[in-house]
Amino acid sequence: MYREIFLPLLLCFAVLLCSTSAYAAKQQAGGDDIGKAENDYQLYCISCHGRNGDGKGDLAEALSVPPRNHTDATIMSKRTDEQLFKTIRDGGEATGFDSAMPPHNTILPDDQIRGLVKYVRKLCNCQYTK
Ligand code: HEC
Repeated sequence: MYREIFLPLLLCFAVLLCSTSAYAAKQQAGGDDIGKAENDYQLYCISCHGRNGDGKGDLAEALSVPPRNHTDATIMSKRTDEQLFKTIRDGGEATGFDSAMPPHNTILPDDQIRGLVKYVRKLCNCQYTK
């Protein structure tokens, strides 16, 4: 009698364990976060920085200072994550860049801005190096 329910029960447990650990792995890798950040980037950044982050957005030519090419690892690796965060949150004027780079503090919460920093890191495929 016990044996009859033991096996199906064990199977259920194994399936549950697998699915929760797969979920945990995805969370750890920031799976969904980076998808959300990509959406935010497409929504708020590509008009200037371009669909692929190469700085060639539709508005780029109308600006006197070209939008940063986020795929340029040489420049982007000179910035700390904190600097990128501040520029995105407070805008170019507050951080020593051109005022055409708008602040996003009133439209995006800090965690979404942190997501964008990660996404920009993905675009340059680089980290801060001194
Ligand atoms: C209206 C155009 C415009 C929009 C929209 C815009 N940017 Fe910018 N951004 C610029 C310009 C222009 C610069 C370059 C400023 C300079 O070089 O002085 C810049 C610079 C930056 C920098 C600084 C790069 C560095 O060298 O440190 C970051 C980071 C950045 N933008 C991220 C973003 C993100 C993320 C978004 C979307 C949330 C965004 N920008 C939206 C125009 C824009």
